Amino acid sequence: MTSEEHWSAVYERRPTEELGWYESDPSTLGLVIAHSTPDDSVIDVGGGDSRLVDALVNRGYGDMTVLDLSEVALERARGRLGGRGRTVEWIHADVTGFAPERTWALWHDRAVFHFLTTREQRDAYRAVASRAIAPGGRLVVATFSSEGPEQCAGLAVCRYDVDSLPAAFAPEFQLVTVGPLAAGRSGEGDQRPYIGAVLTPVSN
Ligand SMILES: C[S@@+](CC[C@H](N)C(=O)[O-])C[C@H]1O[C@@H](n2cnc3c(N)ncnc32)[C@H](O)[C@@H]1O
Repeated sequence: MTSEEHWSAVYERRPTEELGWYESDPSTLGLVIAHSTPDDSVIDVGGGDSRLVDALVNRGYGDMTVLDLSEVALERARGRLGGRGRTVEWIHADVTGFAPERTWALWHDRAVFHFLTTREQRDAYRAVASRAIAPGGRLVVATFSSEGPEQCAGLAVCRYDVDSLPAAFAPEFQLVTVGPLAAGRSGEGDQRPYIGAVLTPVSN
């Protein structure tokens, strides 16, 4: 089974609301809003059927892109948003092999980078992000923290802390802020421990 087939099968098995990582109130929304304005372009990498795109479109963000490996997840999100999603660009791709044809002001990734368990995958991801993020832009990333589970969706993950997460993005990115991420709404949705970081490309 390919990675794409794995993820689509995971989505096909259950409604999104019953998946372990689902949040009705995205925990990274505060970081995204703090580091962008509605005039900025945003790409949600491995966005799947996340409600982040809904929250940003509702706040007037007019240049949104959602990229995911699973066509099933993208179809679900596209269908749910309906007319509200007419300005959203949907990209079906593996982020580690993605060839961006434009740049974005903000790159968002919740619960995707931690599935990259080899150095080659992480190097490829960083290289893509470096090309895709505009100078002075931001990379917002959330992964399981060192107290988090060792697996998700039947796959091994790498867990991070306040030192290892920024280090995983060096030398191409420098740290803006890092810390534990509070769940979006207490007692609702994914309560597993995450760490969030905001980074910016190092200008040459
Ligand atoms: C745990 S889910 C998180 C979804 C979403 N970010 C959220 O917070 O609700 C991981 C998502 O990443 C996607 N994914 C996994 N590996 C990927 C890759 N290499 N490239 C693009 N998407 C990937 C999966 O299809 C899935 O939608």
